[in-house]
Amino acid sequence: MRSAVCPEHGPPEAVVVADLPAPEVGAGQVRVAVRAASVNFPDVLICANEYQIKVPAPFVPGSEFAGVVEAVGEGVDTVAVGDRVFGTVMVGAFAEQVVVGASSITPTPDAIDDRHACAFGVAHRTAYHSLRAVADTQPGEEVIVLGAGGGVGLAAVQLAVALGATVTAVASSDEKLAVAQSMGATRLVNHKAGDLRSALKQALPKGADVVIDPVGGALSEPALRALRYGGRFVVIGFAAGEIPRVPLNLVLLKGSRIMGFEFGSFMRYETEAMVRGEAELLALLAAGKATPHIGASFPLDQTASALRYVADGHAIGKVVLDIT
Ligand SMILES: NC(=O)c1ccc[n+]([C@@H]2O[C@H](COP(=O)([O-])OP(=O)(O)OC[C@H]3O[C@@H](n4cnc5c(N)ncnc54)[C@H](OP(=O)(O)O)[C@@H]3O)[C@@H](O)[C@H]2O)c1
Repeated sequence: MRSAVCPEHGPPEAVVVADLPAPEVGAGQVRVAVRAASVNFPDVLICANEYQIKVPAPFVPGSEFAGVVEAVGEGVDTVAVGDRVFGTVMVGAFAEQVVVGASSITPTPDAIDDRHACAFGVAHRTAYHSLRAVADTQPGEEVIVLGAGGGVGLAAVQLAVALGATVTAVASSDEKLAVAQSMGATRLVNHKAGDLRSALKQALPKGADVVIDPVGGALSEPALRALRYGGRFVVIGFAAGEIPRVPLNLVLLKGSRIMGFEFGSFMRYETEAMVRGEAELLALLAAGKATPHIGASFPLDQTASALRYVADGHAIGKVVLDIT
């Protein structure tokens, strides 16, 4: 099978494409013929060995895929050969075939094609669980989304609107903000255009109820300051490359709540909220209210370019690899 390979840890350009033997299916597993895979910021970090979870090289990168089941292992009765599915793995998705545990895949709704199905998993689930279970976002609330043009950010814009919130999108370009607006954001703040703290104060004089932060760096503190009394701040990631240190007096003065979301821990420890959220999100997907925005596509042979595109913050919504 054709496959991307990270032969040793390094920048996106370290990733090559090679022919590898098809992976074997074990008990409880399925092999999926991958038709499309999506590129996430953590894929870049895993290749660079800078992610929380370390994967020894060589390995096939890629964590999100969609395709068709082509083999099932012993004991698998939840899916059958020929079923359309999408799913997530830590690594292995940037290839013509991937083997995963049967519990890691979900049937693809008929109305959704493989390119959109593969782009749905990590970003939308992260955004939805952060908004719904962690921040407890309510209809009519004001939500600030940082990195609003990125995969998680744009999903958060779309899903906050689906939850009935009003969204202020913060991004680095008018192009990204225009896409956030098309997803339902009503206030748009270009943080490159001036001081973010005063722009947010002007946009939200009474303060925001919720901040969704997948960016970190210099954006976090002004966004935290933009909360109203008792507001909630969800830490999702540090795409800016810098973990911010915020003065805790800001939290004390406004009774703010700063909360974290980490995908694996949430799935492990928050079973009830996870099951409820996953069902709600799948219903939104099937209803066309959670369709990911695909900003760029690359063939499998150009996996390194796709990773570089994401690493440099150019992605608007999701970046997809067309595998077949
Ligand atoms: N906690 C979890 O379980 C979880 C799950 C998924 C993702 N994440 C994390 O969430 C973050 C965002 O993921 P994503 O998939 O949304 O990534 P993405 O699509 O690449 O978007 C990241 C956004 O961050 C901003 N950014 C600021 N400085 C940047 C820089 N130096 N390089 C790249 N982007 C920069 C960019 O927005 P502007 O150009 O508008 O500033 C960009 O749109 C990542 O750190 C990822 O690891 C965490």
